[in-house]
Amino acid sequence: MLRTDTPVTVYRKDYTPPALAIDHVDLVLELDPQRTIVTSTLGFHRAPGAAPDAALVLAGEELELVGVRLDGQPFTGVATATGSLTLTGLPAQGTLEITTACNPAANTTLSGLYVSNGNFFTQCEAEGFRRITYFLDRPDVMTTYRVTLRADRAAYPVLLSNGNLLSEQALPDGRHEAVWEDPFRKPSYLFALVAGKLECIEERIQSASGKEKLLQVWVEAQDLDKTRHAMDSLINSIHWDERRFGLELDLDRFMIVAVGDFNMGAMENKGLNIFNTKYVLANAQTATDVDFANIESVVGHEYFHNWTGNRVTCRDWFQLSLKEGLTVFRDQEFSADMMGSESGRAVKRIEDVRVLRQVQFPEDAGPMAHPVRPDSYEEINNFYTVTVYEKGAEVVRMYQTLLGRDGFRKGMDLYFERHDGQAVTCDDFRRAMADANGRDLTQFGLWYSQAGTPVVTVRTAWNAGAGTLDITLAQRCPKVGIETRDGTPEKQPFHIPFAIGLIGKDGEDLPLRLEGEAAAGDTTRVLDFTQAEQTFRFVGLPAGDAPTPSLLRNFSAPVIVDYDYSDSALTFLLEHDSDPFNRWEAGQRLATRVLLELVADAQAGRELKLSKALVDAFRAVLTDGTLNPAFREQALMLPAEAYLAERMGVADPAAIHRARLFLREGLARALKAEWLAAYESNATPGPYSPDADSAARRALRNLALGYLADTGDADMQALADKHYAESDNMTDRFAALSALVNSFAPGREHALADFYQRFENDPLVIDKWFSLQGMQRGEVGPHAGKRTIDVVRNLMEHPAFTLRNPNRARSLIFSFCSGNPAQFHAEDGSGYEFWADQVLALDAINPQVAARLARVMDRWQKYALPLRDRMRAALERVSASSTLSRDVREIVGKSLSA
Ligand code: TRP
Ligand code: ZN
Repeated sequence: MLRTDTPVTVYRKDYTPPALAIDHVDLVLELDPQRTIVTSTLGFHRAPGAAPDAALVLAGEELELVGVRLDGQPFTGVATATGSLTLTGLPAQGTLEITTACNPAANTTLSGLYVSNGNFFTQCEAEGFRRITYFLDRPDVMTTYRVTLRADRAAYPVLLSNGNLLSEQALPDGRHEAVWEDPFRKPSYLFALVAGKLECIEERIQSASGKEKLLQVWVEAQDLDKTRHAMDSLINSIHWDERRFGLELDLDRFMIVAVGDFNMGAMENKGLNIFNTKYVLANAQTATDVDFANIESVVGHEYFHNWTGNRVTCRDWFQLSLKEGLTVFRDQEFSADMMGSESGRAVKRIEDVRVLRQVQFPEDAGPMAHPVRPDSYEEINNFYTVTVYEKGAEVVRMYQTLLGRDGFRKGMDLYFERHDGQAVTCDDFRRAMADANGRDLTQFGLWYSQAGTPVVTVRTAWNAGAGTLDITLAQRCPKVGIETRDGTPEKQPFHIPFAIGLIGKDGEDLPLRLEGEAAAGDTTRVLDFTQAEQTFRFVGLPAGDAPTPSLLRNFSAPVIVDYDYSDSALTFLLEHDSDPFNRWEAGQRLATRVLLELVADAQAGRELKLSKALVDAFRAVLTDGTLNPAFREQALMLPAEAYLAERMGVADPAAIHRARLFLREGLARALKAEWLAAYESNATPGPYSPDADSAARRALRNLALGYLADTGDADMQALADKHYAESDNMTDRFAALSALVNSFAPGREHALADFYQRFENDPLVIDKWFSLQGMQRGEVGPHAGKRTIDVVRNLMEHPAFTLRNPNRARSLIFSFCSGNPAQFHAEDGSGYEFWADQVLALDAINPQVAARLARVMDRWQKYALPLRDRMRAALERVSASSTLSRDVREIVGKSLSA
């Protein structure tokens, strides 16, 4: 494995265009698990303006060079070094033939060509192609590929690559070959091949212009009965992109292949998407409603990349959000549209914002904070972040908020008109949006270059006699992450689309008129907030009582809103806001306030008391049958412990856990009758269906079950036993198992054992089993004494556990280290010791996965003593290792120097 001693920082400002253009690539792969021979034939010509004597430096890793030929003759102007092959004395144009060997079976990094369960797969983004052959492995080198795959026919009956199948034939010695050609120019990171024993379901559909398309989902034979939902999601994605953006599938054939060993969610290789099994395989028995929804969204995401990523790609990896932010926005809109109702859309928006706040806001406040378009990196794999993806999607969403849906569509059309077939930058995208709409989006560009989450402080001044309301917005965004260390100047104000409504005393939206306007317009206004401080005067409001402001409706910008709402204003908004997102938001603000007070009480050793106001607010939501059950579920979920930790100056995970558990048990008991009623009235009789309405009912019902089990009452735990035993689908079964496990119900051990035995042969379900135990509460009350860390260490000895499979490693280790804050941050530092052990062990196998785990310590400086010191000690222990990958080194290095 490659270990670099001195970390090299790559800077965006150092970009230079490639000196060589590649006209075409012909790849021949003789597939063999231990020694695969790759011959790459490149037609090249020197780029105009490039120095004639410049050496050509090709990237390559873990390759054995077998030979190089130029225009058919052996070529000797060759020098290899770690990570590269340098060719000197090349003519202005010609044909290079490079032959190399690699060892896919020994490749545990899952980058490049590797073997998983006996089959071959590739993963080339971001820099994996260089592990297959020497190449100009950078996204601005686009070319056409013709790929010949040869392999043993019995062991590898299926041979797939990008594009169209040209021919298949038998070869001597039991081998066979397939030739594939991709007519579209593409960067090397979109190359893919798959070879092995796989089967598929297929469908033929007609695209908008009437062309027939062949769609396939490839899996291992035993999983064929879990492919229907992925296929349906693909078909829906294709039609959605035609309808919403006028974008049609450009190939005759589109394939999805599932693989059990995969570093991320999925990969958008041209015409041959490769997926983690977790985002393909589902049926009622093995997958939850959330799994079904995730599959729909990831299938959509990868499909949408065909235009936003593949047809138009990134000039360099600093522009990653050009394709990822845009494609996440597109998959979010797709999933929202598939919900089929306005309230469903709102629930999707709430879920997306929850992730943004719980994961991206902390990233943007910690040592790895970086702008949506970063300025530097040591290892690009570390920059596939929630900032690039989720905040990037918020930035794209803001264009749509500012320009309207039609204006946004015009911008997209112009973007494709200008840039189809090119490798471009985030500035090119912004220019297309600006030019198509005649808007100046210069200041908006700061969203790409400045890191951190802006805080918007809101002040209001009500003139009861005149019926005018002054809203003063002030923004600030202190330096974060690398900005504090690299001489970044003070930040400038962002262009924030700030959506606002005003609610009258009867709960109705008031028509909005800004001073100077002739007449009132809509009841939601998007304010162009562009200065450090700005006052907006609303006039013509009914005199008397002040209206209640509904701020940042639908979360119109990725900012923190600071406004001193009274408890009664929040209750009022929770009841009346016409903006469902802000209705939810009001409830969350109220619950957060109550929880932070409880945390303070817990820290001070005061008695904890249940807030009657919150109980009343929860009761109102729970019993309001007019509300979408999925919305009620969202509103009745307490803010996560990690979110509360972020909200504190100094985080105290033990106190947070005590406070939250107290509130949860209090709400469980105070509203027992109402939870039970919700449980009973939200059954979904008949066979399982993952549709939005049924999933919504199950969500609320299972939330109720969790609360009921937390009453600790024997009858309620018996209800969970019954729910488990009678469930006919994974959503219900797993919800019951969670309720039993976390409430330490008597039925818990029996259910855990039953679950394992039922699903022993289904790795994705066994992942759930590990994950639930990694996230379980520490044993409390009569069960005190047993710590989750001991359960986790024990489970690592389980025959089904392995570090080599990323899903399995995530299911136990990540779920404990990042999904169980109270237990992970045990005062004795046992969680941190465990973390260091696992980062080091994983790093020797798979640096990308290890670096993800390393990020768990990002916020170490936020924790109370003695935790903070113990976290630093664990970081230092990892940092002292002499064999760290570049991936982990960057993360721990940045953590320690923050
Ligand atoms: N481009 C992929 C996506 O967003 C992400 C991805 C898949 C990836 N596998 C990877 C990124 C491996 C880095 C390394 O859909
Ligand atoms: Zn993507």
